[in-house]
Amino acid sequence: MSLLLLLRPHLILYLLILTVVNGEILRARFYSETCPEAESIVRREMKKAMIKEARSVASVMRLQFHDCFVNGCDASVLLDDTPHMLGEKLSLSNINSLRSFEVVDEIKEALEEACPATVSCADIVIMASRDAVALTGGPDWEVKLGRRDSLTASQKDSDDIMPSPRANATFLIDLFKRFNLSVKDMVALSGSHSIGKGRCFSIMFRLYNQSGSGKPDPALEPRYRKKLNKLCPLGGDENVTGDLDATPHVFDNQYFKDLVSGRGFLNSDQTLYTSRETRGYVKMFSEDQAEFFRAFEQGMVKMGDLQSGRPGETRLNCRVVNRRPSDLLFDS
Ligand code: HEM
Ligand SMILES: *[C@@H]1O[C@H](CO)[C@@H](O)[C@H](O)[C@H]1NC(C)=O
Ligand SMILES: *[C@@H]1O[C@H](CO)[C@@H](O)[C@H](O)[C@H]1NC(C)=O
Ligand SMILES: *[C@@H]1O[C@H](CO)[C@@H](O)[C@H](O)[C@H]1NC(C)=O
Ligand SMILES: *[C@@H]1O[C@H](CO)[C@@H](O)[C@H](O)[C@H]1NC(C)=O
Repeated sequence: MSLLLLLRPHLILYLLILTVVNGEILRARFYSETCPEAESIVRREMKKAMIKEARSVASVMRLQFHDCFVNGCDASVLLDDTPHMLGEKLSLSNINSLRSFEVVDEIKEALEEACPATVSCADIVIMASRDAVALTGGPDWEVKLGRRDSLTASQKDSDDIMPSPRANATFLIDLFKRFNLSVKDMVALSGSHSIGKGRCFSIMFRLYNQSGSGKPDPALEPRYRKKLNKLCPLGGDENVTGDLDATPHVFDNQYFKDLVSGRGFLNSDQTLYTSRETRGYVKMFSEDQAEFFRAFEQGMVKMGDLQSGRPGETRLNCRVVNRRPSDLLFDS
């Protein structure tokens, strides 16, 4: 009894700390009590989406990158613009490019049905990205959950942070370092381009005017270049899409094999083999798929840990912030 009394103040202090920083603590099986079906529901909905359109799972996986790099993994990328807020959907890297938001909506609807107001949109992005990889033949891993959704989004921050397809390896190394991601993490995470597509818009400069030279990127393997020239002629429709690697529906190390043979789609892809600092990892992953999978998992978990420390909520609809009592005061 006296021992319990002695311990109590510590217990109370401990609980207080837990409450204050609750939003920051991520852990596996976060919803095991409040929504035990959460992970299986997300997996089921992703499977459905993939059957409807194979590419959609890649598009959803890309959302994790574009969410987590801009003020942490907080589903800010999912917010629609409002008259008072320019969101991230129309930023330079995202406009006419990010897609499959409706898949996230479907997942959210299914989760709201099973466990109302419980699973955050930020966690949905993390679970769904893992599922995209697992469902296309890549590794499967345990994700940490417990994120909160942002109350705002920033087009400017997205413009400032998200890299251009023209980026070179040096630039990408420095960018990822700002997020505590190593060179190896960066090369492995670029392996996400093992699935999905990119637009001609993203490669026109490298096909016809690399670095203002008036010539194509010399790193392009000639037969692959001819193929891309045909897909993306000068003056053609730049919304036409091409595969990011030779097996765009399978998550494997083909992407790295393609880089070794000069068949990378984006400049930011091919530069990883052209550059001395990253070439070793590209070679390694092209020869050892298991090593790529291990490094990719690690990179995704590290990227998933990024948090802004700002206040958050669990959105009911991933596209809009919840109505707050203070909003009602200003309603006309
Ligand atoms: C290393 C820096 C990166 C750059 C410069 C970059 C750039 C791009 C670009 C330009 C596209 C094509 C967009 C378009 O043409 O509309 C693309 C597609 C894609 N990116 Fe990245 N990306 C990078 C890293 C990542 C990371 C870390 C992930 C995820 C972990 C990722 C996932 C994807 C996926 C899955 C697609 C295909 C999406 C679809 O088919 O809809 N990318 N990326
Ligand atoms: C890489 O890109 C940066 C920023 O665009 C540029 O300043 C730098 O000169 C480039 N480095 C190389 C080796 O091309
Ligand atoms: C990177 O790590 C340092 C040292 O651990 C930490 O202070 C910093 O907040 C981290 N940066 C990010 C973006 O997580
Ligand atoms: C190539 O780019 C350079 C520099 O950006 C530009 O001055 C030149 O007009 C471009 N050439 C063509 C053929 O578009
Ligand atoms: C691609 O399509 C969008 C809308 O569908 C259009 O607004 C845009 O101008 C097109 N972009 C290019 C580069 O052709």
